[in-house]
Amino acid sequence: MKILVIGSGGREHAIIRKLKESRHKPQIFCCPGNGGIAADATCVPINALDVEGVVRYAKEEKMDWVFVTPDDPLAAGMVDALNEAGIKTFGPKKLAAEIESSKVFSKNMMKQFHIPTAAYEVFTDPHKAMDYVQEQTTFPIVIKADGLALGKGVIIAANLEEAKAGIHEIMEDKVFGESGSQIVIEEFLTGPEVSVLAFVDGTCVVPMVSSMDHKRALDGDKGLNTGGMGTVAPNPFYTKKVAQQCMETIFLPTIRAMNELGRPFTGCLYFGLMLTPKGPYVIEYNCRFGDPETQVVMELLDSDLVDIMDAIWNHELAHCPISFRDGASACVILASGGYPKAYKKGCTIEGLDENGQYEGVSVYHAGTKLENGAYLTNGGRVLGVTARGSDLREALDKAYGAVEHITFDDAFYRRDIGAKCF
Ligand code: AMP
Ligand code: GLY
Repeated sequence: MKILVIGSGGREHAIIRKLKESRHKPQIFCCPGNGGIAADATCVPINALDVEGVVRYAKEEKMDWVFVTPDDPLAAGMVDALNEAGIKTFGPKKLAAEIESSKVFSKNMMKQFHIPTAAYEVFTDPHKAMDYVQEQTTFPIVIKADGLALGKGVIIAANLEEAKAGIHEIMEDKVFGESGSQIVIEEFLTGPEVSVLAFVDGTCVVPMVSSMDHKRALDGDKGLNTGGMGTVAPNPFYTKKVAQQCMETIFLPTIRAMNELGRPFTGCLYFGLMLTPKGPYVIEYNCRFGDPETQVVMELLDSDLVDIMDAIWNHELAHCPISFRDGASACVILASGGYPKAYKKGCTIEGLDENGQYEGVSVYHAGTKLENGAYLTNGGRVLGVTARGSDLREALDKAYGAVEHITFDDAFYRRDIGAKCF
């Protein structure tokens, strides 16, 4: 069995290492991969956004499966193109991927199907948006670019001035390009945030173990928003009762809505939830595995990922046993100084063995490259040091214990991953 994974982050590395454990013993390829992934898969220098290039390569190499992981190739229809070429895929088709790639689509769907989400208005005209915020009496207010914006298209405006500046940046200066030609302005919600990734085969939804991301760059949730600086699983705020409520009010209604709209979802659907005083609300959907949520979730997944892919492809997810290990897992991201703004690349990473690993933990590589046998930094988020324990304390101690021994110039990491859980 040959499986091609698309992407180059820590999330992809975690998926590849899970696929390697499969009883099907697949040969694994990755486009384009990174320095650390090269120890676990054959990396092929084809860009993750090159739909034609990936289809051609997958056909030539007779891939049995292509696992399309990042948002942009999914939004560009890579799954549709591979299926047309007769290749099995994991991931949603373009129309279903719009649940992430268009906030206007997902907000309108939630409104139509009564799925709890922040109250909102949509604007295509910056003047009307300005007039609207002018009339508001309560702040903060949340401004979101419609399209994909590398996770940065959300502005929490503390007052009218910030709201106006935000609208100007997104709609007139187009800091997120065409993603900002429409915006959503929505109510500010409060409460603990939970990430729930779920396997979906079109009709059946199987939530994975819950997790908690840490989006800000610095301790105490200070600093700029990033792609995610660390995760823990399970998320202690996500109790059995909350899970039941989410299944009834959010998960099942979402799957039904996507079917009714003629966009059946298959793959991994990411529910970004906020547990508000009024119950669980949807903050966002992603049409894919989250990064770095995947690192902690895969660490606990006890079932064969290839069997799950098969079950989804055959619409038999309801009959596929899926289980998670007891205990907890934690992932601490080591990042390049300056991230999420400018940072340098090419610094030598010290402390890893020849496979880019460290004993007792899983080191998932994000921004690394391998040169003359040395691992070098090659991105903002560099490594996700991930550990499992009988409880969260043990998982965190193991992860932080390893992080102390892995270094590069200007490396930084948050010291309070999981602190809110105690
Ligand atoms: P998103 O890119 O949609 O995940 O948003 C990034 C972050 O902004 C979320 O993780 C939340 O912390 C915050 N956020 C987004 N929408 C809201 C909202 N309506 N109320 C409060 N915080 C929000
Ligand atoms: N960790 C958030 C995301 O993957 O979008």
